Amino acid sequence: MDRLLNVGVIGLGMGRHHIAGYQNHPSAQVVAISDTDPIRLQEIGEKYNIPNRYTSAEQMLQEEKLDVVSIATPNKYHNPLALACFEAGCHVLCEKPMALSAVEGREMLAAAAKAGKRMMINFSYRFTEQSMALKQQVEMGTVGDIYFARTIWHRRRGLPGFGGWFGQKALSGGGPLIDLGVHRIDLALWLMGYPKPIWVLGSAYNPIGSALAASLNAKFDVEDLAVGLIKFDNGATLEVEASWAANIKESELMETRLYGTSGGLVQRNLDETYKFEAELYIEREGAHFDMKLHPPVPPVTTPMYHFIDSIVNDKPHIATGEEGLLVMEILDALYASAADGMPIKITRP
Ligand SMILES: NC(=O)c1ccc[n+]([C@@H]2O[C@H](COP(=O)([O-])OP(=O)(O)OC[C@H]3O[C@@H](n4cnc5c(N)ncnc54)[C@H](O)[C@@H]3O)[C@@H](O)[C@H]2O)c1
Repeated sequence: MDRLLNVGVIGLGMGRHHIAGYQNHPSAQVVAISDTDPIRLQEIGEKYNIPNRYTSAEQMLQEEKLDVVSIATPNKYHNPLALACFEAGCHVLCEKPMALSAVEGREMLAAAAKAGKRMMINFSYRFTEQSMALKQQVEMGTVGDIYFARTIWHRRRGLPGFGGWFGQKALSGGGPLIDLGVHRIDLALWLMGYPKPIWVLGSAYNPIGSALAASLNAKFDVEDLAVGLIKFDNGATLEVEASWAANIKESELMETRLYGTSGGLVQRNLDETYKFEAELYIEREGAHFDMKLHPPVPPVTTPMYHFIDSIVNDKPHIATGEEGLLVMEILDALYASAADGMPIKITRP
């Protein structure tokens, strides 16, 4: 393909990073953007020099000839907007979580297949030097077979836009589990080779968020902390923890640990920031070695660059809609288990 791909971006909070990501690729041009907030639309349109601006995404899809669309709206709109994009013949890069539920996710994948278009989920934490380097080691067999993993993202206090859509289940689908946990679940599963989940046990709590909401008269009907245990068809187990509010020392704590038959690994954030480190712990002939990733490290691209590159070079992309759906199945089951107080078996149609 030798022509420029026309790109549209819907939702301009996180969506502005999508614009910047696409603008880095020589085969992509962001020609149109959409946001229901006209002030944000104008501000971002001017900042990134995007000519065509729409307060209605549906109108944008009708009037523009787009090849690729990013969806970065509140979670509730991921499904209807993706369906509209596929109907308009576009490839879709959708923000995480894929949707509010696995049912919605399946509908999106069916629409993508019908249109013959691609669907990628913005699991952006794969696109770090540390995650990519670890994935390479896992694929080389450095840690052997992975049988257990623990993946967490905790915040001492970090309730996003308190009183806004993130804390309203009807708009978000849930709290920190679907917001932060989704990234850490994906990262662990990707490193583990995406085994199929078969059952889960989940718990969710919201003592801090609900007390704050009551004191501020704000809407908040999601958890502020969730934990879960996930069992896979290959016998492996994953433990997940996610919080926006917890009485812990760290303001921001991310860690994904994998336990393998001949080695282990860790990807974690440094000093409560969004910088990461990667380590491997290897056992060879009874001797134990620690390995740390040091610069210079192989460069990585953004998810947007990767998506465009995969399309123009006719190569498969990573962070597929199918993987997004497996994560949705886990999230659905964890929330159902938390509500029922019982383990839940994942069933597929
Ligand atoms: N991958 C990541 O690391 C990452 C980081 C932050 C947010 N996100 C995801 O990005 C999405 C957006 O989150 P955010 O933090 O940018 O939220 P936000 O509230 O800051 O921005 C959402 C924007 O979407 C607009 N919007 C709402 N409905 C719309 C519609 N129907 N059409 C067009 N625009 C619409 C809003 O006006 C707002 O400007 C969420 O799904 C979130 O989970 C991902």
